[in-house]
Amino acid sequence: MAIPATLQQGLKLPVIAAPMFLVSGPELVIGACKSGVIGTFPALNQRTTEGYSQWLDEIKAALGPEDAQYGVNLIVHNTNPRVMADLAVTVEHKVPLVITSLGAVKDVVDAVHGYGGLVFHDVTTVRHAQKAAQAGVDGLILVCAGAGGHAGTWSPFALLNEVRQFYDGCIILSGCMSSGRDIATAMMLGADFAYLGTRFINTAESMAPGEYKQMIDEAHAADIVYTPAISGIPANFMSQSLIANGLDPKSLPEKTKVDLGKELDHEVKAWKAVWSAGQGVGSIDDQPPVAELVARLKREFDEASSAYAKKWVAAG
Ligand SMILES: Cc1cc2nc3c(=O)[nH]c(=O)nc-3n(C[C@H](O)[C@H](O)[C@H](O)COP(=O)(O)O)c2cc1C
Repeated sequence: MAIPATLQQGLKLPVIAAPMFLVSGPELVIGACKSGVIGTFPALNQRTTEGYSQWLDEIKAALGPEDAQYGVNLIVHNTNPRVMADLAVTVEHKVPLVITSLGAVKDVVDAVHGYGGLVFHDVTTVRHAQKAAQAGVDGLILVCAGAGGHAGTWSPFALLNEVRQFYDGCIILSGCMSSGRDIATAMMLGADFAYLGTRFINTAESMAPGEYKQMIDEAHAADIVYTPAISGIPANFMSQSLIANGLDPKSLPEKTKVDLGKELDHEVKAWKAVWSAGQGVGSIDDQPPVAELVARLKREFDEASSAYAKKWVAAG
């Protein structure tokens, strides 16, 4: 139970800025790493494998040994025709951290381990966590209820405690964290890293449009709708965005996807038009540069940790 040595470089806070489709690009990754947290992006945020390779060149050129490490997200599934080509580029660039979604495949893990990289895998249930642990991954990302994107349904207390019964590797907790106190709480629960998505949408460097960020500023947890109707797999979206797309959040289909028009690939249209966010939106009301946000998170994290230590002493 610890942060792997290679990821400790330049780390000022145990935080990973989570990969987000159409939101995270080189600017956000570089900003995160230079501020002392791990920056990541989905390979599919570039339209081609060549473009993905160029982004990796850009990120590597901007970062030095004093900066935190970076990572990429690969969707390991037969619906992603690019996965093998993107993996080859990942190996070529020796990407320090690879975050796999959907498939925890031993061949992918072996390929990344071959150059000394690490693999963290996204899970939402204990069964998926067991399968990923068997595939030899270096960390399990527990995506809990209320997270942005394809969230799980489990409470972080329930999932983390059950996973710890059979897994003593690195645990990364995901879902609804927006403040330094939230990150400190994740550490208290026994996580090694906090995995923050929605909070990083609202930074100057994210690729999200201004209206998306504004909607997050104004939204509350009660506005978040968990539905499979947009992307086919249950995910969290802001009701304001569903309504803006002519959809009634109260009468979404439970088994089929809504028709979002034909002009774009459905999955791209889904995430481009209908804006996803986690229940942590209620604590977000600004769009600072990443450096400013991370400095604030660090201050809040330190204050919360020492306030708790004092409270504990006082109570004891
Ligand atoms: C807009 C959006 C897009 C996302 N896209 C991806 C993705 O492409 N790959 C992935 O592994 N996770 C994706 N996620 C999930 C995040 O990586 C992370 O698990 C989640 O945002 C954490 O919860 P939080 O948003 O409450 O902090 C996405 C989340 C959001 C909000």
